[in-house]
Amino acid sequence: MSEAAWAILAENDRGGYTVPTAHLYPFQWNWDSAFVAIGFATYDIDRAYRELERLAEGQWDDGMIPHIIFHAPSDTYFPGPEVWGTRHRIPTSGITQPPVFGMALRQVHEAASAAGRPDAVERTRKLFQNALRSHRWWLRARDPEGTGLVSILHPWESGSDNSPAWDEALKRVPTSTKTTIRRKDTGHVDAAMRPRDEDYQRFIHLVDVYRECEWDPARQWEAAPFKIADVQMTGILARSTADLLILAQSLSSPEERGELERMHQVLTEGLARRWRQDLSRFVSRDLVSHRDVEAPTQACFIPLVALTLDDQQRRAIRSEIKRWLDGMVVGVPSTAPFSPAFEPKRYWRGPVWAVVNWLISDGLRMNGSEDLAREIEQGTVQAIERAGFCEYFDPTTGEGLGGGTFSWTAAAYLVLSQ
Ligand code: DGY
Repeated sequence: MSEAAWAILAENDRGGYTVPTAHLYPFQWNWDSAFVAIGFATYDIDRAYRELERLAEGQWDDGMIPHIIFHAPSDTYFPGPEVWGTRHRIPTSGITQPPVFGMALRQVHEAASAAGRPDAVERTRKLFQNALRSHRWWLRARDPEGTGLVSILHPWESGSDNSPAWDEALKRVPTSTKTTIRRKDTGHVDAAMRPRDEDYQRFIHLVDVYRECEWDPARQWEAAPFKIADVQMTGILARSTADLLILAQSLSSPEERGELERMHQVLTEGLARRWRQDLSRFVSRDLVSHRDVEAPTQACFIPLVALTLDDQQRRAIRSEIKRWLDGMVVGVPSTAPFSPAFEPKRYWRGPVWAVVNWLISDGLRMNGSEDLAREIEQGTVQAIERAGFCEYFDPTTGEGLGGGTFSWTAAAYLVLSQ
């Protein structure tokens, strides 16, 4: 099957960057590309670096790495560059996505060093600076009060667009829009597997609000009707920071190392405070309503990639994950099957995502649950072998859903089947 995964990555290559899948997502997406770079690192190191270098071309002067880089035009996606109205020299969206970049850079660098590549140090050093500038942006723009948790201002930033985690907060966002909505996604994929029209109205309302703030982070922070201090985002940022710190030992100055150490401490302390023993999960915090986000979604397990849990937490989280796997053909569902919000075919309201399993199993392994990590990895590999490199999978049947030839599913396969 590895040949098939390579073929998908080749087919989705648009010149040094990979589209998530043709038509549905015809540009470069931030966290997709970072996962794809890790996949490339298993067989083509130059291409792995290229993926990150092309992503870095979209980085803004303030350090943000946008969620979409519109390197070349396409009319198969909405909202395109004209809706975002940003001013970067390569058109981009105006929001960001989970910073897997730092994690990817470490993996690519280690693969390059193991292969004895002479260009490794120089290429990694440049990308390290991109990553560092982006982490500084995260803390400045998305945790201005220094709580140790970074916030998302748009569900698209989370990458888990229509997750039940956002239901309550999104209800407060008006459905009125200044932009005319011309959905293209439901022309490529069954509407029953996608967010609803009402979700899209709210997604675009938020884009309208932030465009009016001229994408200025401080103005957006003030104006945001949707603001969630997110444990998935913070977990990934904290983990990327730890990975950058490892690279920094040989590639960076003592000042930068000190800065990364402080960042790491602030983020891991912030994250650790989000543990809810009564729920056996980590929970995000809605900064508008000042309430915990109790919806049981995959995000609750992602802090595992960044934290060393105590024994009680480890036991609790293990049995919670097992509860979610119980009765499923393939796990881990993106929403707990016992939740009233669970919809096994609708995008982030239940389906299984290979990259999420990749993160969860990595975090479980770091926290001493090798057996459960392996079970999840093997389940993911088998689901892909049965159903193909689909965007996501129905946990109750194993059916492959959404886009059909997905780059990050191919990358996950290459890494998890090793
Ligand atoms: C979409 O358009 O569905 C994307 O997830 C936004 O990034």
